[in-house]
Amino acid sequence: MSVADQPIVILISGSGSNMAALVEASRQRRWAQRWGGRVVAVISNRPEAAGLEWAREQGLATAVVDHRQHEGREAFDAALMQAIDAHRPALVLLAGFMRILTPGFVAHYQGRLVNIHPSLLPAFPGLKTHQRAIEMGCRFAGATVHRVTAELDHGEILAQAVVPVLPDDTPERLAERVLSQEHRIYPEAVERLLSA
Ligand code: GRF
Repeated sequence: MSVADQPIVILISGSGSNMAALVEASRQRRWAQRWGGRVVAVISNRPEAAGLEWAREQGLATAVVDHRQHEGREAFDAALMQAIDAHRPALVLLAGFMRILTPGFVAHYQGRLVNIHPSLLPAFPGLKTHQRAIEMGCRFAGATVHRVTAELDHGEILAQAVVPVLPDDTPERLAERVLSQEHRIYPEAVERLLSA
């Protein structure tokens, strides 16, 4: 039985460890054969993003849309949309993508746009989530996979993982513990979307 094609484009800005976890899961869990779920491209706003090198080595298409080359958010988002739409994605996954997207971009990918955020949303939207959790004396931290809406770090929650904050935790050590949970819940959440 043939399955519908569900191309996936992943957007990164840095190391791309979540992107790598998604690519690995797509192979190990046979997303393509089971649901037509294929990671077809990795796109970054930063030419130096380490994840691009890894993606190239995996034989994935890569592209850079450098936000420094575009005047303003609208122009950047339009160029980014053009690079993404070349792959006709069923899903666009933000994975460590450090740009705030315009409402027009979000509307264009409505229902197909997903993000992972390193906190238990709605707690700690925005940046420096681990440092803020430690400073507030939180006993638990974690990560959230959620649909992207025009409002930053809001939108339907698709998955969460809880991680204990240890007495002598530093943001770096907590981030490491949370990241390994991110690598588990993001692929699980995407698989649920593909198989729905
Ligand atoms: C992760 O903590 C992710 O939640 C946040 O960026 C961090 C780095 O992600 N958005 P990655 O290693 O580039 O996937």
